[in-house]
Amino acid sequence: MKRISGKNLVLIGFMGTGKTEVGRLLAQRLNRCFVDTDQVIVRQEGKTIAEIFRERGEKYFRQLEQALAEELKNQQNLVIATGGGFVLNEVNSAALRQSAFVVWLTADLAVLRERLKDDDSRPLFNKETDFAALYSNRLPIYRRASHVRVDTAEKTPLDVAEEIFCIIDRNA
Ligand code: S3P
Repeated sequence: MKRISGKNLVLIGFMGTGKTEVGRLLAQRLNRCFVDTDQVIVRQEGKTIAEIFRERGEKYFRQLEQALAEELKNQQNLVIATGGGFVLNEVNSAALRQSAFVVWLTADLAVLRERLKDDDSRPLFNKETDFAALYSNRLPIYRRASHVRVDTAEKTPLDVAEEIFCIIDRNA
């Protein structure tokens, strides 16, 4: 696995693409430590993401993400699942890419809506119209920030993790 030897493997993409679950499985498969940026922030703040947004606002949450990106760029051999908005900030995106292989997980909007329909933990998943606009605005950002794209529709997290493993292996 020369291609990613020493590098972090970073998963980016929209809410509901399965970054956390796929990341956990990949970390096991690659025998690496797993970091989920949302989980780190939740632990650090002692609050849920919804509480942080409600009490301190999105801007504060984005500052926490930026501080975390700065820390992570100096680490190696991690599998990192990012929050859906993590790479919106160019500084974060550049920090992550510094020494990383970045995989963009995708799925159609309809698939994501279906996966998230009972979810009330995501502060940016509320009004449908916002969600569609958010989705299309972000596509070019994810595209620019990533090295490869993996579609997750009609696949289990294990399928997706295996597919990423094969991509890395093939390019080793
Ligand atoms: C966000 C996605 C969430 C979380 C926060 C903001 C976003 O992470 O970081 O609610 O801006 O897309 P997931 O992508 O893991 O849902």
